Amino acid sequence: MNSFMSWVGGKKALREQIVSMLPVNYSKYVEVFGGGGWVLFHKPPGRDFEVYNDLNGLLVNLYWCVRERPDELQRELKYVLNSRLDFDRVRATLAKHGKENQVKKAAMFYQLIRYSYSSALTSYAAQPHDMWSNFPIIEQAHRRLKDVVIEHQDFGRLIPHYDGPDTVYYCDPPYHNTEKFYKNVGEKGFLELDHVRLRDILFGIDGKFILSYNDDEFIRELYTAPGIYIVETTRLHQMRQRYEANSQFPELIITNYEPFERSRLQPEQIALF
Ligand SMILES: C[S@@+](CC[C@H](N)C(=O)[O-])C[C@H]1O[C@@H](n2cnc3c(N)ncnc32)[C@H](O)[C@@H]1O
Repeated sequence: MNSFMSWVGGKKALREQIVSMLPVNYSKYVEVFGGGGWVLFHKPPGRDFEVYNDLNGLLVNLYWCVRERPDELQRELKYVLNSRLDFDRVRATLAKHGKENQVKKAAMFYQLIRYSYSSALTSYAAQPHDMWSNFPIIEQAHRRLKDVVIEHQDFGRLIPHYDGPDTVYYCDPPYHNTEKFYKNVGEKGFLELDHVRLRDILFGIDGKFILSYNDDEFIRELYTAPGIYIVETTRLHQMRQRYEANSQFPELIITNYEPFERSRLQPEQIALF
């Protein structure tokens, strides 16, 4: 299924490939940098224990409301206006960290996602969009998230907490040199040393990890190590399509296990989903 929102760096285009490269056997699936959750929503639910995490508090609040209070959320969303004036008002209200209740905050944040240019939350897109058309997918997301644990932690705390030999982490951190696009996250945002910190944590786990990144020299160097697989891939470069049809964006998928074991098996040999 689709996510109920678009998100900067969302993995809509890579989700099929990432799901096909998950290990065959695991019992815990942890999406460390959840964002729009495109991989989680694409992955069929199975008997595995699933965790969604993100450090953006407004985003996590929206996930909680979709899981726990979808009717109230839709009621709030019924009457929002697709207008620059309302967009700017909502943006200013959320920036003040006021005392609005959880559902109101979630509705305002969803309004910003849906009505901002490229879902970047900052400028009004001025595009027609029927908010009510999102309600069926919010309902589906509500059902899909029913048994998903939602966390709001820095990756450095989250990863050790869920670690074990049967855990697989899907990590989709801010890409190197695009960190500034993630606002509302942490005090300082995502820094170069956070990429190194993530690598150090992932190299010390008992579980498995699958990591997506932009194809970048710094990242290649960080992850060039024995037992680590680096797979090159590309996806359509959406921003460039208008002036360069079929332009591709090079990305890396990095794992600490053999990444093609699932694709070599017959469906009946795949144990956990
Ligand atoms: C590339 S986006 C993830 C996109 C997601 N895979 C999707 O399909 O929509 C990266 C996410 O990491 C989150 N993030 C940034 N710093 C973080 C941290 N220290 N710990 C956990 N999440 C963080 C951001 O809020 C952002 O949502």
